[in-house]
Amino acid sequence: MIDYDKTKDRFDKYIERCKKTIENTFFSEEELSKAADVKSDNIAAGLAREEDDLETVLKEHRKRLIQIKIDHTMRVVADVTKIANSVGAPIDFVKTVEVAGLLHDIGRFKQAILNNGYDDGIDKKTGLSRAVGFGTLRHAQYGQKMLSELGMFDYYEIPERYRFAIGEVVAHHQDANITGDYATRFTSGKQLDTDKYLTGSQMLNEHEKIIVAALLQMVKDVDMIDILYQNISGEMPTVRKSVEYRTTDPVTGKQDTLDEIAAYWGVDPKVIKDYNKLESDDISGRVRLSIPIKEMSPSKLEVPLDIQKRFFNNEDLDLQELQRRRDWTFITGMWWRLNHFLNGISFISNLELMEQNEVLEKIYATYPDEYKPLVAPAFEFAKEKLLGKVIRDNKGEIYVKRRQIM
Ligand SMILES: [Fe+2]
Repeated sequence: MIDYDKTKDRFDKYIERCKKTIENTFFSEEELSKAADVKSDNIAAGLAREEDDLETVLKEHRKRLIQIKIDHTMRVVADVTKIANSVGAPIDFVKTVEVAGLLHDIGRFKQAILNNGYDDGIDKKTGLSRAVGFGTLRHAQYGQKMLSELGMFDYYEIPERYRFAIGEVVAHHQDANITGDYATRFTSGKQLDTDKYLTGSQMLNEHEKIIVAALLQMVKDVDMIDILYQNISGEMPTVRKSVEYRTTDPVTGKQDTLDEIAAYWGVDPKVIKDYNKLESDDISGRVRLSIPIKEMSPSKLEVPLDIQKRFFNNEDLDLQELQRRRDWTFITGMWWRLNHFLNGISFISNLELMEQNEVLEKIYATYPDEYKPLVAPAFEFAKEKLLGKVIRDNKGEIYVKRRQIM
């Protein structure tokens, strides 16, 4: 059987080493010159002071990035354990999915050592990741490389026959969709007997395909829901300080003047000017302007009716499409999150976990009273239809049935 406790012990030691490496980092002039905004963001968040030197601020910042991923990882481990147990998986599978959960974001720790944030997108022009240290890979694929090619499976002493399966979970947990063999669904916990079926071969037999698919689906399912926990912890605030508004109407191509934009938001032009540090009223060089929400009436943030209608029909809301719109705000962003994440969940027990943990209630509670009416109908619908009803309709099932248009 795979030894989760030993793996966790080595994981903790590895994290300590990562923190030491950050402590001992020497920053080049170029790195420091690019990092002034990290300091000002940290000061604004009350995490640094003006008199702190930049190197210290960066080191503390990177150690906080590490901590964010440790907290995330431990929640993922706890949640996959519950899902695996709820479907009657054998103990060896439970331990395997715990190890896969523990290691799924292993690439993130390397990323935090070398970067000031978690962007690892691939630059279209160069084909390189925007994260220093990953080459052409994103954190998921780089994590698999760390384990298999760079010797971390040996460090963790993971027995041979689990390695390919765990590596696949790490490599694919960031994929937008699970397709092909890994979309296979199991029908009984008995099919998940890793002890009996896993061989370690890269040529998966039918039994192994089911097991690797289940491992990947479980980790991905809880990883996705964990993004909502970031709203509760404040890592991703539900209310932002400003709305980023496009100065040009994407439909007509007409650029508005500062006065027109100010009139639209019901905000004094001078406030917008100061907030954006504009030298004059001429905004022709600006693609977007930040409109501070403190100055505007909350009703300006009302979600557009056509989006509301699609949400209540439970149609698929496309993030890119919404973000291209001029009326996109962080409030619409929460409607999208509820639609996208709740409909994206595969396992009934994951929905049950959300209900037990009162995740939706806790996110809703983060909104100040004046903004609650903007999201209340969406949370109510999510709680009743996307959680409660789906759980009731699927009692005794393992997987959620395909999304229903209402
Ligand atoms: Fe990840």
